Amino acid sequence: MKICYTVDDVRKEVKEWKKQGLTVGFVPTMGYLHEGHRSLMEAARKENDKVVVSIFVNPMQFGPTEDLESYPRDLDKDSKLCEGVGVDLIFHPEPEEMYPEGFCSYVDMNGLTTELCGKSRPIHFRGVQTVVLKLFNIVTPDNAYFGQKDAQQLAVVTRMVKDLSVDTKIHGCPIIREEDGLAKSSRNTYLSEKERQAALILSQSLQVGKALIEQGETDATVVKKAISDKIATEPLARIDYVDVVDFDTITPIEQIKGNTLVAIAVYIGKTRLIDNFIIFS
Ligand code: PAJ
Repeated sequence: MKICYTVDDVRKEVKEWKKQGLTVGFVPTMGYLHEGHRSLMEAARKENDKVVVSIFVNPMQFGPTEDLESYPRDLDKDSKLCEGVGVDLIFHPEPEEMYPEGFCSYVDMNGLTTELCGKSRPIHFRGVQTVVLKLFNIVTPDNAYFGQKDAQQLAVVTRMVKDLSVDTKIHGCPIIREEDGLAKSSRNTYLSEKERQAALILSQSLQVGKALIEQGETDATVVKKAISDKIATEPLARIDYVDVVDFDTITPIEQIKGNTLVAIAVYIGKTRLIDNFIIFS
């Protein structure tokens, strides 16, 4: 497995593979890898000749009061995990390599980014789209793998690729959870033991919503209220949002039909966690 730090080095490797007619799968990450990331890499490993993973804590997608500085990093551990899965190349650039002096071009979107996480993180998706398109231009993958854990990000990237005619197929992969239901996240490391226990309210409240829908409930307001009421039983939890939206357009819906995303963001102490489920029709 190779580790490349520059755009040119990645391009050289990928060009060589493409000359041989090999397919390239790509998993963009911010590192501190866990089972969730691993599941994407395994999917990429199965479906492609070569697998590239990027590890880059992208400053552009963090707001001024967010956790850019404290975001956990461990390249040694990440490299071992990648090697274990059979990754061929890690791209680990410095911010200056991705955003050299004078950088002033961005990818933005009119729809999909205003609801859910877009409300409390207004510049987040512009940063995600810009870095993901840059990474796609560097790696030129045939296939790229994203987790449903970040469902809005998956919808945004899917739309961006379609709108801008990017020649990469986007694959959405299921959420990987701890045994007790907590969705795996690099940010779970911020939680104290008490908060870790309290964080179970995210998956538990979603179970309540899911059960209601499975019993035939189609009124989004009823589902949202049931989830919010359950979250309110946990004193350490503070709701950022509980929403029901159309998964493809990320616009709020009143009646549950079509591909539906039920998504929540909840503060546990100072840590903001997200979770969701998607109903595909
Ligand atoms: P990061 O949070 O490191 O996540 C990288 C990928 O792993 C994303 O596609 C995310 O949805 C997926 N992932 C994280 N936790 C998961 C889980 N529990 N189950 C399944 N998949 C999971 O998302 C980002 O980085 C960045 O925004 C990035 C796309 C790399 C752009 O900077």
